[in-house]
Amino acid sequence: MSTALPYWIAPSILSADFSRLGEEIHNVLAAGADVIHFDVMDNHYVPNLTIGPLVLESLRNAGISCTMDVHLMVKPVDRLIGDFIEAGADIISVHPEATEHLHRTLTLIREGGAKAGLVFNPATPLTVLPEVLELVDLVLIMSVNPGFGGQAFIASSLTKLTAARALIDAGGRDIRLEIDGGIKAGNIASAAAAGADTFVAGSAIFGSGDYQQTIAAMRAALAAA
Ligand code: DX5
Ligand code: ZN
Repeated sequence: MSTALPYWIAPSILSADFSRLGEEIHNVLAAGADVIHFDVMDNHYVPNLTIGPLVLESLRNAGISCTMDVHLMVKPVDRLIGDFIEAGADIISVHPEATEHLHRTLTLIREGGAKAGLVFNPATPLTVLPEVLELVDLVLIMSVNPGFGGQAFIASSLTKLTAARALIDAGGRDIRLEIDGGIKAGNIASAAAAGADTFVAGSAIFGSGDYQQTIAAMRAALAAA
């Protein structure tokens, strides 16, 4: 299936070397990445703990100006939204399970001036999506259970991508469709064929010896999709 929006490759810094985070981001952008995927985990909504708005702010202060795609895996989520917008987030994605009032949370993101994303776990149906489609700029389909990098791609997420693509196309607005978890050069084309236009990859990129070669292999697979 073809999509109107250009493909974006979004390396997840979860698999970067955190002792050299700024340098890792520079390197992956120089290697052809389109945006940076910034995974925020709280050891409550997901069983892992990562980074917060201070780290984003410090990357911005160091001159990193790329699009920052912030994936919030925290509960409750609302209080952190303003902090991430002030720190320099461009896109902020939330899970419906992490808020009591999803409409309010998405509105908070957009009123703060960021793009709003909505994330669906492997076992979460898309049922709320039509209710809030007007407030959403990005739909993120998880192809692993959130919390860790390096997990295996869950194949049923392709069916969910196709269903999300149909809802987005029926809505008629430009909404990105992102896939996150277990993406690599060998399966990225199947995600594109199912309707994705934005591809998160953590371990496949940062775990490779040559970021440029890995991203080029992904782009080649997408070009042939
Ligand atoms: C998982 C995160 C992902 C993760 C992807 O909860 O949301 O962004 O970093 O890592 P890979 O690409 O290694 O599956
Ligand atoms: Zn993520």
